Amino acid sequence: MTSSAPIIAVDGPAASGKGTVAKALARHFGLPHLDTGLLYRAVALNLLRWGGDPDSEFAAVRACDFSQIDFDDPELRSEMTGGVASRVSVYPAVREALVQRQRDFAGQPGGAVLDGRDIGTVIAPDADAKLFVTASPEIRAERRHAELTGLGLAAHYEDVLIDIRARDERDSGRAAAPLVQAEDADLLDTSEMTIDAAVRRAIALVEARLKRS
Ligand code: DC
Repeated sequence: MTSSAPIIAVDGPAASGKGTVAKALARHFGLPHLDTGLLYRAVALNLLRWGGDPDSEFAAVRACDFSQIDFDDPELRSEMTGGVASRVSVYPAVREALVQRQRDFAGQPGGAVLDGRDIGTVIAPDADAKLFVTASPEIRAERRHAELTGLGLAAHYEDVLIDIRARDERDSGRAAAPLVQAEDADLLDTSEMTIDAAVRRAIALVEARLKRS
């Protein structure tokens, strides 16, 4: 791998700012970007639409079919879909069904930025730069709450915090590709940072890594 076509892995928990950071890195370095959470969300949305049972691994695997999914569908981004995505993503067979698509994206000749939970550990362990973006659960809940109310959706901070904690537990506690900071990832805690500061720091960390790779 060369720094002229870098692979950048961005991992972190829900509402940590990893999506914003990944998008900004893609823009800065002129790379294509894949939000891998959308793939798990698409599986969840299929299940919800089919009335499938998220507790059934068999049903979840059948939902790994993106032929009917419009990736611009706002429903993909809903809290409901995110919660079900976290549940179906515990199944090894679901993860297996989505691996190749992500590795193909990472392997593009021009390089790529991917964000998710297991990019630096499983999907692209040889990535040139890895960031683990995090923030305290309370701050993440505050941000998610502001985002939801900003969209005109009714949301209670306490409920959002409970959801964030439940997702953290599921995403970090699962046996298959749990959310964990890769040994060679740089930690970016955005709890006390503005978006601009987090993006500037992310760019500096990645530039330093690329110089070394
Ligand atoms: O990043 P997000 O909130 O859109 O992700 C939704 C869920 O998908 C998340 O709770 C766990 C799962 N996910 C995963 O297991 N692995 C990834 N690489 C990305 C997301």
